[in-house]
Amino acid sequence: MSTAYLNGAFRPLSETKVSVMDRGFLFGDGVYEVIPVYGGRLFRLAHHLKRLRNSLDGVRIANPLSDKAWETMLTELVALNDGHDQAVYLQVTRGVAARRDHAFPENSSPTLFAMSSPMPEAVDIDSVTGIAAITLPDIRWKLCNLKAITLLPNVLLRQQALDNNGAEAILINDGFAIEGAASNLFIVNNGLLITPANGPALLPGITRDLIIELAANHAIPFREADITQQELFSADEIWLTSSTREISPVIRLDDSVISGGVPGPLWRRMIILYQDYKSAIRKGEAS
Ligand code: PDD
Repeated sequence: MSTAYLNGAFRPLSETKVSVMDRGFLFGDGVYEVIPVYGGRLFRLAHHLKRLRNSLDGVRIANPLSDKAWETMLTELVALNDGHDQAVYLQVTRGVAARRDHAFPENSSPTLFAMSSPMPEAVDIDSVTGIAAITLPDIRWKLCNLKAITLLPNVLLRQQALDNNGAEAILINDGFAIEGAASNLFIVNNGLLITPANGPALLPGITRDLIIELAANHAIPFREADITQQELFSADEIWLTSSTREISPVIRLDDSVISGGVPGPLWRRMIILYQDYKSAIRKGEAS
């Protein structure tokens, strides 16, 4: 039975309930984070808390906890959920209001919720075969850098990918490939690793930032640049990255075969560096 946190108390997830008047329920008025846990240690917690602060500022909800208090609460949640590899989900909404009104309520306090789901412990690199993705128009709003719980466009896009035998949708905006429905985008072109620069069009992924750091530390040529739809289709490799899926190599895009239909050589190099980094986290040698 998994344990969840709500507004100061830990209880079984199935007994954790919020009011139907919560603005998260009525308006999707809130923000969230997904933080992987390896060997009981929260992955890049400081980066996740920084992004959370930025999302909260962006939607004008006061951060209800200090970074230290977040860490204490999340550490306890991890321990209560057996301390193994897991993905912690946290969300902060604008709270419960007396009546439904788009305008902010005058006296509401944020609702804090966190839960944890198990994650597989080990990735068998040799068994990774790659995924299919499809391109779709980016129908989202103009503040995609905020990690808002209002995810209906992302839900519809991901489902459309699944309905077309794809695992993810790559979103196209004005002829440029931006990111996945729930992942960041990298391509490899003649040995050069490329990802779009951060900005309002995409989520500043924590996995993305780590990959950029690993590339810099291991002399892998890297550049932040726009990726045209044409460059996407002619890329040597395409990767989609997120906290829960790590680095997924794309081997089919719409009707085109990518990277000869197998995960590419730079993906293999990077996923090994990524697994090494996870091992360092488990040992407390990295955060
Ligand atoms: N999503 N872009 C979008 C739109 C995302 O939803 C996500 C992650 C990412 C990757 O960010 P990160 O590396 O920090 O996980 C990029 C999470 C996992 C989710 O919604 O479940």
